[in-house]
Amino acid sequence: MSDEGKRRWKGPSAGDKKKSSGRSPGERKIVAHNASSESSKRWIERQLADPYVRKARDEGYRSRAAYKLLELSEKARLSYKGKRVVDLGCAPGGWIQVAMELGASEVVGIDLLELDPIPGAHIIAGDIAETGDVAEMLTGLTGPPDLVISDMAANTTGHKQTDHLRTVALVELALDFAITHLAPGGVFLSKVFQGGATKDVLDRLKASFRDVKHIKPPASRAGSPEIYVVAKGFSPARKG
Ligand SMILES: C[S@@+](CC[C@H](N)C(=O)[O-])C[C@H]1O[C@@H](n2cnc3c(N)ncnc32)[C@H](O)[C@@H]1O
Repeated sequence: MSDEGKRRWKGPSAGDKKKSSGRSPGERKIVAHNASSESSKRWIERQLADPYVRKARDEGYRSRAAYKLLELSEKARLSYKGKRVVDLGCAPGGWIQVAMELGASEVVGIDLLELDPIPGAHIIAGDIAETGDVAEMLTGLTGPPDLVISDMAANTTGHKQTDHLRTVALVELALDFAITHLAPGGVFLSKVFQGGATKDVLDRLKASFRDVKHIKPPASRAGSPEIYVVAKGFSPARKG
C-alpha cells in the first residue's frame, strides 16, 4: 500500500491500557474534528454523552468498540485462550487489546490507518484487498488462525447504495480471507450491516461453518444499522 493511502491515528500511545491519559480516543478526535457542520456538532455531542466512550477512557481501552467484542465474545461463548487471532480493520486497537486480554497466544491485525504498536501484537498498516499486505500480516502467526474477527467499515459517502455496496464488499473480503486461512473448527466474527449478512454471504457461511448467528451487542448504538455475524466450527472440506 502506498504511504499516501496511510493516515495516522493520533490516539493514546502504546502500552496505554490501564494507564489513563485523562483523555479518551474519542476526546482527542473531537479536537481534530471540524465542528462547523451540523453533523459534526451532533457527533461531538454524542461522543460526550456516550457512557461507553467514558468507560473506555477510564478503563484504558483505545476505543468504545472494545466493549462490542467483549459482549459478542461472551454471548457467543468464544474462547481466546491459547488461540491465534487475526483482526481485520483493527485501528485504533480496542479489539486487539481485548483479544490479548482474553488470553490469545498470537494476535495480528491490519488496517488502512497506521496505529501505535501494542506490545505483543503484530500490526500492519495495509489493505485487506492487497495480497502483499495480507502476507506481511500473516508472518506474525506461527500457524493458521483460530479466530478471524473483522470490524471493518468503509468511510461513508452519504449515498445509501454506494455505502451498502462498499460494506458488502468488505464483508466478502473478510469472508474470503477466513475461508482461505482459518484452521479447522475456527471462528469467523464480522460486522455486517442493514439487517444482517446478504443472502450470498449467508449461504457461503452456512456452507462452511457448523453454526451461524447474528448478534447485536448492547454497546452497538441502537440507531446504528450495524450487526455482527458469528460463525463457529469452520470446516475446510465444505468450503463455501
Ligand atoms: C470501526 S473501525 C475498527 C475499530 C476496531 N475494531 C477497534 O476496536 O478499535 C473500522 C476500521 O476498518 C478499517 N478498514 C476499512 N477498510 C479496510 C481495508 N480495506 N483494509 C484494512 N482496514 C480497513 C478502517 O480504516 C477503520 O479503522
